[in-house]
Amino acid sequence: MKETIVIIGASGQGRVCADIARLNGYTRVIFLDDGDAPNAAGKVNEYPRYLECADFFVAIGNGAVRRRLQTMLEENGASVATLIHPSAVVAQGVTVGRGTAIMAGAVVNPGTTVGCGTIINTCASVDHDCCVGDYIHIAVGARICGTVRLEDDSWIGAGAVIIQDLSVCAGCMIGAGAVVVKSITEKGTYLGVPARKVK
Ligand SMILES: CC(C)(COP(=O)(O)OP(=O)(O)OC[C@H]1O[C@@H](n2cnc3c(N)ncnc32)[C@H](O)[C@@H]1OP(=O)(O)O)[C@@H](O)C(=O)NCCC(=O)NCCS
Repeated sequence: MKETIVIIGASGQGRVCADIARLNGYTRVIFLDDGDAPNAAGKVNEYPRYLECADFFVAIGNGAVRRRLQTMLEENGASVATLIHPSAVVAQGVTVGRGTAIMAGAVVNPGTTVGCGTIINTCASVDHDCCVGDYIHIAVGARICGTVRLEDDSWIGAGAVIIQDLSVCAGCMIGAGAVVVKSITEKGTYLGVPARKVK
């Protein structure tokens, strides 16, 4: 681990990740952002300046953009950090991939694996023996029960529940507050209780 971290994305997600990075021991945080964020030190394409001296983290809510940027950074030799808030409870033996953030108050229980570039947001929980893929966002307060398989690139909305032993295929959007009671095998947006696909 280096002393400096470069965070790609300077908005709310970036600031939350910066806070975790400081709590994880980084003493200097540099934001790069292609918007006009006043806290950014430069644009994303300036990242090569920091390859030698810093670790990197992509803090962008859109999973496809996060995947593209993290892949680009890693292909160019960047060291991508994993950020876990000290108040998160991550069971022994849980594996967490590069570029993943586990936010304050989240719980990840034993036997679970978490892929790369995924966000387990504030107070979300992922119970035992789950398989959480890459570039997923489990939004604030969502509940993933035991032995659930979440395939890559899905978004599980705030407060949504996925009951035990189910799987959700890649690229799904589960709306805020939805309760998934059957496995989802077709990509799409699912809303409500019980969750149903919307046209
Ligand atoms: C599912 C979602 C993506 C739909 O967004 P959208 O395509 O912009 O949809 P709209 O807001 O235009 O709503 C379309 C319809 O779906 C309904 N709807 C939207 N979200 C819903 C939800 N989560 N549950 C039930 N119904 C919902 C709306 O009421 C609206 O119904 P109407 O046509 O009868 O008026 C969004 O509402 C959502 O739940 N996003 C998750 C947000 C989240 O978790 N944020 C956390 C950040 S950490």
